[in-house]
Amino acid sequence: MRGIDVLVFDAYGTLFDVNSISQAVEAVFPGKGTTLSKLWRTKQIEYTWLLSLMGRYLNFEEVTRRALRYTAKAMRVDLNAEIERELLSAYNHLKPFPETVEALTTLYKRYPLAILSNGTTHMLEAVTSHSGIRNLFQLILSVDSVRIYKPSPRVYSLVMEAFDVDRRSVGFVSSNAWDIAGAKAFGFSTFWINRAGQTEEALDLNADFILTDLRDLERLLRSKT
Ligand code: LAC
Repeated sequence: MRGIDVLVFDAYGTLFDVNSISQAVEAVFPGKGTTLSKLWRTKQIEYTWLLSLMGRYLNFEEVTRRALRYTAKAMRVDLNAEIERELLSAYNHLKPFPETVEALTTLYKRYPLAILSNGTTHMLEAVTSHSGIRNLFQLILSVDSVRIYKPSPRVYSLVMEAFDVDRRSVGFVSSNAWDIAGAKAFGFSTFWINRAGQTEEALDLNADFILTDLRDLERLLRSKT
């Protein structure tokens, strides 16, 4: 696409299916896999916002652990140390969405690709290596270096420090509506992967493009070259 010089991807929920963890949860808490993993994800994101508003920081591994502890308590299941370790480690082995690898492999030939995520560098290196796509990314940028979470502009600024481009020529790709709103507020060109048919945030910060998956993104960028 004319005007896009670099593609920056959110990780969790965009490249990797956070709900794929429900199988690991189901194995230890039968009948609760889907509900527990959904609440866990919601709480994880809420904690990033809470901490950031308080001016505090715990890294994403710790936030994920605390959110799991909260969720287990709320759902009255017994989370021992071994299960906790197992479920947290499943986070480093999340499955990519079915089209992730193929779409990125094609996009890689035409754009520099990067990840900008709440995850720690360790988590992001692990999850990308596990699915064999680490080499497709020129850079993996983690909020850990600024110790505040998305959608703080300080996070999106990391892209400007890493690439010598204009904000508008950064194509930011996320499945999280609130992350798209944050990126749009910062000045990026935004591509919302709305897999689940979610409602757009009503903040006058609409996505520039709304797509159903990453294959759709690849098609759009090809058609406008
Ligand atoms: C991330 C979360 C927001 O990867 O999905 O940054």
